[in-house]
Amino acid sequence: MIRSLIAGNWKMNGTTVMLSVVEEIVNGLKSRGDEADCLICPPATLLYALSDAATGTPLKSGGQDCHAELNGAHTGDIAAEMIADAGGQYVIVGHSERRADHGETSDDVRAKAEAAFRAGLTPIICIGETLEEREAGQALNIIAQQLAASLPDNDGDAGAVVAYEPVWAIGTGKVATTEQVDEVHTAIRKQLEERFGAKGAGMRILYGGSMKPENAGALLSLTDVNGGLIGGASLKAADFLAIYDAGISNL
Ligand code: PGA
Repeated sequence: MIRSLIAGNWKMNGTTVMLSVVEEIVNGLKSRGDEADCLICPPATLLYALSDAATGTPLKSGGQDCHAELNGAHTGDIAAEMIADAGGQYVIVGHSERRADHGETSDDVRAKAEAAFRAGLTPIICIGETLEEREAGQALNIIAQQLAASLPDNDGDAGAVVAYEPVWAIGTGKVATTEQVDEVHTAIRKQLEERFGAKGAGMRILYGGSMKPENAGALLSLTDVNGGLIGGASLKAADFLAIYDAGISNL
């Protein structure tokens, strides 16, 4: 049985005003029990405050990206150790927005995931095809290549989390069909098992891309969907908690 992870990615949204949403989520989780892991990755400026507010509650916190190195002359970047120091337990790496906006390659992503392990964080390693790649019948090939190259060989003690996020479904309202998600997640699981054996069978694979309360139940009921990476809908406590409820109702 794989423990689900419902993860919110706030992207570049949120100032201290959004700490009230954290409070609502924390209160909501208190009345719900602890059947799945629940995580928010806020902008770096809010990480310490969010981690502080989440201390002693089931809510976990994480970063949205990290630099591969421990420290040094990298203006504007954040080391994985800094995320851990601010109370984070997870870090998203290789999000398609970082791959597109900052030219990050799968080699860069693997180095960042290794840095996450070094700092004791769990990396959430994102992979996913563009619309052109899907229409060209290349989705499974692209995903297999990204997965192979982005995941470190030494998978750390905690293990990595993989997030499948079709680029065309992110922030567009276009959610992948359950058939598409099922096909990709089954292929990812097979590749993880081939590479990591029994450990690969237990690794979490999240779906991300326009997940919301209305579609979360169907997506989270698929065998190899072990949670969600949620952007827009994680900015509202009620929607995020409704997705969490959809996740735990399938356990
Ligand atoms: P979305 O974003 O839920 O707003 O589509 C998901 C993500 O990019 O992680």
